[in-house]
Amino acid sequence: MSTPAPTKTILRALAGETLPTPPVWMMRQAGRYLPEYRATRAQAGDFLSLCYNSDLAAEVTLQPIRRYGFDAAILFADILLLPQALGPKLWFAEGEGPRMETTTTMDQVKALKPTEAIHDTLAPVYETVRILSRELPRETTLIGFAGAPWTVATYMIGGRGSKDQGAAHRLKDTDRATFAALIDRISEATVEYLSAQIDAGAEVVKLFDSWAGSLKGADFEDFAVKPAAYIIAALKARHPNVPIIAFPREAGHGYVGFAAKTGADCVAVDDSVTPEWAAEHVQKDGCVQGNLASRHMVTGGEDLVRETRRVVDAFRKGPHIFNLGHGITPDADPENVALMIRTIRES
Ligand code: CP3
Repeated sequence: MSTPAPTKTILRALAGETLPTPPVWMMRQAGRYLPEYRATRAQAGDFLSLCYNSDLAAEVTLQPIRRYGFDAAILFADILLLPQALGPKLWFAEGEGPRMETTTTMDQVKALKPTEAIHDTLAPVYETVRILSRELPRETTLIGFAGAPWTVATYMIGGRGSKDQGAAHRLKDTDRATFAALIDRISEATVEYLSAQIDAGAEVVKLFDSWAGSLKGADFEDFAVKPAAYIIAALKARHPNVPIIAFPREAGHGYVGFAAKTGADCVAVDDSVTPEWAAEHVQKDGCVQGNLASRHMVTGGEDLVRETRRVVDAFRKGPHIFNLGHGITPDADPENVALMIRTIRES
């Protein structure tokens, strides 16, 4: 049985088609820069309550779609819900970012809950996906996601975010067996988590490896490339038609060949590389997503218009999904997002 060709713009780009106007969505498009998000978050009480309230999580996912008509909606959740479902406590200290009970010994890795148990905690996330697949406009693609094992491990080991992921590097370099066992447990759970999102209606899934840039040399191969390749192969075996976007943020030279090595349908690039460089070295392997610097959503004006056109032009000769290089920040002006979208669609 052959699969019909996709009609939604994002799915067409992911299938390798070069479109006259790139489809667009934005990382963190449902977020604090939007007054309607802040209102719904206040109604939910706090960030985690919002993530686990399927109706409100679906509502904030839909808000930027209604306001801007993005080509994709990304499920509203967080990469740290999966490790939380494996047992460690998670909380968000106001203004300080995430905190997590640490996992640093083999006994603690062995004490994590079995993979099947994650669905008890994560059921509300799957329900959010089901609501969204009913309520999204028919032309909008629904993207599910998870953190990549290395990035998730940095929070599990360090107990919080850090600039250099020092605690995770130390465990990797001093107790390889424990570190590798943790990466394996996260990898296995990620396959089940993303597979359940797909069963609930996610049409594309994305792996966020936000801290991939701090893995160098063989470590990048072992802990960014290999886990992504494992997860993608397992998902493709079960869901051969669901495209996968990989985002090894700040990978630099590691972006080259990443799609071929991991089986990803698209590589998302951040703005530490130029769009011209990414077009030459990454887009030759297939679809690229990116990579306008998110500061333009704060500063706006002629710089925004010029740099938006530059990104569109650089990637014009191949499959491209327009996005920012990283998430939009809370101090962004919603008017600048509208200006970016107008510029893309008029370019
Ligand atoms: O992109 C989206 O709109 C979908 C939802 C989404 C969130 N987090 C919501 C969120 C996604 C895809 C994420 C991914 C995520 N979460 C990553 C990987 C991507 C990246 O940004 O590098 C990481 C590292 C996390 C962990 C996390 N969650 C951190 C470090 C923080 C605090 C930083 C911050 O911006 O405050 C969060 C909180 C978070 N996740 C917010 C949102 C909208 C802000 C929380 C709030 O409303 O107070």
